[in-house]
Amino acid sequence: MAQAQPLHTPIGLLAELTHRCPLGCPYCSNPLALEPRDDELDAATWARVFKEAAALGVLQVHLSGGEPGARRDLVDIAAHAREAGLYTNLITSGVGIITRTMRDLWEAGLDHVQVSIQDSDAVSADHIAGYRGAFQRKLALAAEAVRLGLPLTVNLVVHRANIERIGAMVDLALKLNAARIEIAHVQYYGWALKNRAALMPERKQVDRAVLEVEALREKHRGRIVIDAVVPDYHARFPKPCVGGWGRRSLNVTPTGRVLPCHAAETIPGIEFWNVRDRSLSEIWTSSPAFNAFRGTDFLPDPCRSCDRREVDFGGCRCQAYALTGDARATDPVCHLSPHHQKVAALAQQTADEPYAYRRMS
Ligand code: SF4
Ligand code: FES
Repeated sequence: MAQAQPLHTPIGLLAELTHRCPLGCPYCSNPLALEPRDDELDAATWARVFKEAAALGVLQVHLSGGEPGARRDLVDIAAHAREAGLYTNLITSGVGIITRTMRDLWEAGLDHVQVSIQDSDAVSADHIAGYRGAFQRKLALAAEAVRLGLPLTVNLVVHRANIERIGAMVDLALKLNAARIEIAHVQYYGWALKNRAALMPERKQVDRAVLEVEALREKHRGRIVIDAVVPDYHARFPKPCVGGWGRRSLNVTPTGRVLPCHAAETIPGIEFWNVRDRSLSEIWTSSPAFNAFRGTDFLPDPCRSCDRREVDFGGCRCQAYALTGDARATDPVCHLSPHHQKVAALAQQTADEPYAYRRMS
């Protein structure tokens, strides 16, 4: 395992409160083996985790899932996050949280809401989500958040089925009075890896989409912030995944395991410590998982001799493992990787096949 150097302060905590979710999005970033309700951390343990996170330097917590609204004690959990002094963001599918709960969350001090929208077309949106009526409920919840004065981010995950409607999706977010839009091309982990061929857009669609997002940014400058996550498989350089392994963020699963990123458990042979047994500070500084790929010294060539290694940290460890079988390798998304051809070939494998929806069982 690589050395722990240098030790940075984490700024974000992703709190996966539950893996339960009424929707079945085929690109869900949750693991294929979802964690059961009976083992979920209780609100008191989350309160302790939030306090420990704040003491460690964390500034913001993202209450996520699954669908966090599946937790009956969501309002208490949000209140604990605020009591710990953390900027509290709710990441919701918009289904499973009623108007009354949204108001209670606002009263508890919630700072921000992020709602995912699957498409601008209602029928397509419900098909992608695997849940009839989801689209209308999302719009209603987003409207309620704005009515309460909460800043709203609309999250748009882009793939083969909706890539031609990015402009219409941005218009929808504007209509909802969102402050920010996050346009994220599907990242192929978890359920998205399982559905890769069904989700993969054509190269020409991706090229058009990248230009369109740039134009939309210009057009709506001053009205709404548009952040975009590049389509991995069509990029020349990889993303600095999670801002560097064990560098900026922690991810706590519903049952309390602490991961450097949401997909870290796909890499075999790594030991993950649990907040039930240790403090967050001990886990951050000393757990084998966080120290596995800290820094850049473990990287082989071409990263070892590349100027960008402190910019992108050699890309994503989980993707390197998924595509090469070696988590230390240069992320094959990088055009300098000896495995880059694999990515180029996979990007051409598209199929009009039914989704494998994410389900608990
Ligand atoms: Fe980044 Fe490594 Fe590619 Fe250089 S060789 S750009 S450090 S992934
Ligand atoms: Fe795990 Fe990128 S998703 S390091």
